[in-house]
Amino acid sequence: MIYLYGASGHAKVVIEILEQQQKIISGLIDGNPAIKTIFGYPVFREMPDVVSKDDVRMIICVGNNITRKRLAEKTFIDFDVATHPSANISLRSIIGEGSVIMAGVSVNSQANIGKHVILNTNCSIDHDCCLENYVHISPNAALAGNVQIGEGTHIGIGASIIQGIKIGRWATIGAGTVIINDVPDYAVVVGNPGRIIKYNKKEIYEP
Ligand SMILES: CC(C)(COP(=O)(O)OP(=O)(O)OC[C@H]1O[C@@H](n2cnc3c(N)ncnc32)[C@H](O)[C@@H]1OP(=O)(O)O)[C@@H](O)C(=O)NCCC(=O)NCCS
Repeated sequence: MIYLYGASGHAKVVIEILEQQQKIISGLIDGNPAIKTIFGYPVFREMPDVVSKDDVRMIICVGNNITRKRLAEKTFIDFDVATHPSANISLRSIIGEGSVIMAGVSVNSQANIGKHVILNTNCSIDHDCCLENYVHISPNAALAGNVQIGEGTHIGIGASIIQGIKIGRWATIGAGTVIINDVPDYAVVVGNPGRIIKYNKKEIYEP
């Protein structure tokens, strides 16, 4: 049985992936009392008592990368992986626990995907890429081979990253950005070619 943490729009997509996988969804957990059900699944305020935690798995359905990290670090239930049946995942790749692989995603040979990563609709991760934990790759973003992405970095919708690039931790790559140079930690990069416009506040991510 699977519980989803967070009753957001992102959770709706994850529910439909799990349904396609014919997995059993027991409910969602969300602190907002206004949300009672989603698609008929009950929304609990907190994790219900379960007879045996051995049979329970969780997926954290929170799009914000730092919030997802904080929730994962205080959750003592095993995590599942949601993989849409239309995703093309190399058998020589590694996918970490808690990650969500949406429709039409490609993960090519020997890519290493960390924990609680979101690979959003139709993104493409080429051979030997390495994505650390809590990364989010938005829809239609494309990573060429051997790209490395640090913890918690968000790659915006439709961004393109050429081969061999290293992007640091907790960086933000804007929608449609083309990355042709390495990106430091916390940088916010936009445009073609990508240029740094500012830095995310380090103290938010590394208290
Ligand atoms: C990069 C981003 C995070 C910046 O957001 P922000 O901090 O609110 O920045 P602002 O909107 O104030 O923009 C700052 C400047 O960058 C420019 N800019 C912002 N995003 C840009 C983008 N993607 N491409 C080109 N320029 C961009 C703005 O035009 C503005 O330029 P100006 O100073 O000359 O007016 C945001 O614009 C973005 O692209 N987010 C990605 C969203 C996404 O992919 N969502 C998918 C979810 S699944």
